[in-house]
Amino acid sequence: MSDWIDLGPTAELSQKPLQQLVAGRNRFAVSYRDGAFHVVSGVCNHSGGPLGDGRLDGDYIVCPWHNWKFHAITGEGEPGFEEDRVPRYDSRVENGRLLVDLASATKRTKKPHPPHPLARPVVRAPGPIRVAGISTTVMDAANPRYSTSDALLETAIAHATTMLAAEGRLVKLNELHFRACEGYYSKSAQACTWPCSITQMDPDDQLDRVYEALVHWADVILVSTPIRWGAASSLYYKMVERMNCIQNQVTIRNRVLLKNKVAAFIITGGQDNVQAVAGQMLGFFAEIGCTFPQFPYIAHSRGWSAEDMERNIAFVQKSDELHDAARALVTRAFDTAQFLVAHSEEEAMVGVRDAFVRAGRKASMSVKEELRVASAPMPSTMSSSSPAPAHEHETRLPPPASKEP
Ligand code: FES
Repeated sequence: MSDWIDLGPTAELSQKPLQQLVAGRNRFAVSYRDGAFHVVSGVCNHSGGPLGDGRLDGDYIVCPWHNWKFHAITGEGEPGFEEDRVPRYDSRVENGRLLVDLASATKRTKKPHPPHPLARPVVRAPGPIRVAGISTTVMDAANPRYSTSDALLETAIAHATTMLAAEGRLVKLNELHFRACEGYYSKSAQACTWPCSITQMDPDDQLDRVYEALVHWADVILVSTPIRWGAASSLYYKMVERMNCIQNQVTIRNRVLLKNKVAAFIITGGQDNVQAVAGQMLGFFAEIGCTFPQFPYIAHSRGWSAEDMERNIAFVQKSDELHDAARALVTRAFDTAQFLVAHSEEEAMVGVRDAFVRAGRKASMSVKEELRVASAPMPSTMSSSSPAPAHEHETRLPPPASKEP
């Protein structure tokens, strides 16, 4: 039995080649080409992106969130993913109105896309404490120079592997090619996924090595940075912006990717502002779930009036005190990590896992509540573009309440 509803006047709807329309709990992507309307579901199979807010690429609708494509007439996925289809609807024009038959909807089918390797469960593999050093200094690889922050980081890693029997890994951001964050979170909180949207879409992007080290491998995360104009290095911020996907999992999914991880920092600069740089770094790594050792950073700077940087390099090279401080820092972080790892099973038994629920500064709304709000009917029977509900298959959320098949 058919179930026709009115989507609006064709004179108005024909002004746009593609638009997202909402009627009750149904979201439609309505396209208009060569004098004909076509209607498919406005909810993307990937993470629920609003397909009607995307664009047309030939016969395909391109999702505005991560560029998955669905045929504008049949709802089928792009070539190779035809079985990954969104519902299509019969439609007709009557008395200058566009009508769509809800009962005609075809079945939504999802062809599993191979999960990204980073999407696997985060489980600490047995073994010694693992220390990941992240160097964020920027320099011309063809003409390398002495980096004070790198030198102290290398001292710390060497100490961890030789004297503490830890495993060590050094990642230099300067050697990786990775894109800057493109603000998927700004499109919708649901559009910022784990793994990062860019990582999932761009096989050439190399920040997966940082994610792998930090999320799946390390117990200790040791980040070094120079001070540039009173702030951490530009590469540090480029990395941190891309790590929004880790923090976002906490705030919108109650999914804490980093547990029992210890972060510590090495900050060096010719001029000052150590405390502000440290405060920013501490704030971010606290927000993604890290623990800190007592005295979680070491730093060195020559002060505002110092311009003789040659002497600064010589000072760091010769300073036993600074290199000893780097060894002491990694030792404190190592000890803290050992404690956390040793007690992780006990923590789970006494309910620490529950303490993670709704962790994070912005976790003011439970997932259940968020879904309820997202899937609530719009105030009027028809309105244009609205945020789509979340039903990201890889996070195992329940599907939103919807009449769609
Ligand atoms: S491509 Fe549509 S939500 Fe990701």
